[in-house]
Amino acid sequence: MEVAIIGGTGVYDPGILTDRKEINVQTPYGPVNAMAGVYNGIEVVFLPRHGVGHSVPPHRINYRANIWGLRRLGVKRIIATTAVGSLNPKMRPGEMVIIDQFLDFTKGRPSTFFEGGPHGVVHVDYTEPYCPEIRAEIRKAAASFGYQAHDGGVYVCTEGPRFETPAEIRMFAKLGGDLVGMTNVPEVVLAREAGICYATISMVTNYAAGMATGPLTHEEVVALMQENTQRLRQVIVAVLKTLPKAQNCSCQSAVPNGDLLFKED
Ligand code: HPA
Repeated sequence: MEVAIIGGTGVYDPGILTDRKEINVQTPYGPVNAMAGVYNGIEVVFLPRHGVGHSVPPHRINYRANIWGLRRLGVKRIIATTAVGSLNPKMRPGEMVIIDQFLDFTKGRPSTFFEGGPHGVVHVDYTEPYCPEIRAEIRKAAASFGYQAHDGGVYVCTEGPRFETPAEIRMFAKLGGDLVGMTNVPEVVLAREAGICYATISMVTNYAAGMATGPLTHEEVVALMQENTQRLRQVIVAVLKTLPKAQNCSCQSAVPNGDLLFKED
């Protein structure tokens, strides 16, 4: 497998793969179910982040199993989607953001593969958490369709599953956040530890709590995602077509000797 698509809220089926088959991978963190197939001669794995039928809430997702499982399948690159609320008036509902930084406000999530022991203490560099090469392809693909895709944005990851208070949103905005969601951390963190190139297309589904009138609901988030799934799919398909075969970035070497960890499996 070369590329994985991790589908967030509203993106439950890529609908683009041929020779589809369900796959089940065992990992030290538990099993992972995904769909494998082929697009344009490229082997692709599709993993719905919240499980089949959106049954797993953000704080219960087995992020380590997901990323370990993809690595085990030989995945070299991940294109993920996330639904996000916006704190930035310039990033409007229905627009895409190719995020380039995150702020981590999660609380109780296992967020590393490196737990000490024989591997020692590992501190990984996150100066550039998202793969610049995949981000560039997403930018080009979105532009080719004339879609508004903001180049760069700071994703604030909350623990969820509740939405935020307006006071929290004001604080996140002061800290430099543009968007708020509940799933990108530790997904992006673990992908980098696993040496997998990772980028996310964030779809703005709403203005964050307190910025719009009235309460925020999961239903409105899902409805906006549904309206925009087709556009996300177009962009992902275009990226699959244009990604260069060789990886010209440094994501694979974020962890020196990182392969050792996965050899044990
Ligand atoms: N907050 C947190 N997560 C979200 C939001 C939001 O406003 N919209 C979509 N996912």
